[in-house]
Amino acid sequence: MYTGILHTHKLVVVLFLLLYLVKTVLLLANQKDLLAKVKKITKVPEMIISFGFLATGLFLIVQKPDAISQYTWIKLVAVFGSIPLAVVGFKKENKVLAALSLVLIILAYGLAEMAKRNVPKQEVVVAVANPTEANYSLQEHGKAIFTSYCAVCHGQDGKLGLAGAKNLSTSTLTDEEVKNIITNGKNAMAPYKKVLSAEEITAVAAYAKTLKN
Ligand code: HEC
Repeated sequence: MYTGILHTHKLVVVLFLLLYLVKTVLLLANQKDLLAKVKKITKVPEMIISFGFLATGLFLIVQKPDAISQYTWIKLVAVFGSIPLAVVGFKKENKVLAALSLVLIILAYGLAEMAKRNVPKQEVVVAVANPTEANYSLQEHGKAIFTSYCAVCHGQDGKLGLAGAKNLSTSTLTDEEVKNIITNGKNAMAPYKKVLSAEEITAVAAYAKTLKN
């Protein structure tokens, strides 16, 4: 459900951006007749897109309140700030306001992408974190990383399912696929390649597999 809404949200956001881009370009290029035509044709689709944009966005926030970061707030301010600017800008055919509104929307879009990429590095407390040492335990190392990074969404037992996180106790993926998802991320799950080392990814992937029933 969450993943489906997330995809829908991304789609309507892209449509919304395209529509605004076209209208702003026409306004800036003084193509008033063409702009009037486009406005007329897109009136109803625009209402549907705008509603879809806000409704799916709201759903995502309500479903995943823990994920609201400072980026989310800036994003919300940018989105809601751009609406009155766009309304007034297009009504009065004010180029500065319309352009400013578009800049705000694009900024919000960029921030949404950035927020996903930024997983902060955390202190993972584990007795021996070096695989070459004699008393190294892959299980212990993996568990420590899992608790610090993954349990928020997946839960310590892998079954929590927050933000659309897959149930790890019933996962049917191969070791390679698990490593690949941890490394590169998937949908609401961020990539960990810049956060975790290769050894850490191996350890946490191995631990994730032990959560299977
Ligand atoms: C922000 C929440 C979040 C965090 C934190 C998170 N995940 Fe995920 N994880 C997800 C979501 C969402 C999916 C489902 C992706 C999809 O298929 O759409 C997922 C899917 C997975 C899968 C694939 C399961 C399957 O059967 O498809 C694995 C394995 C996994 N996560 C492991 C981890 C590990 C290990 C960590 C910690 C390094 C982690 N996750 C951190 C949200 C999260």
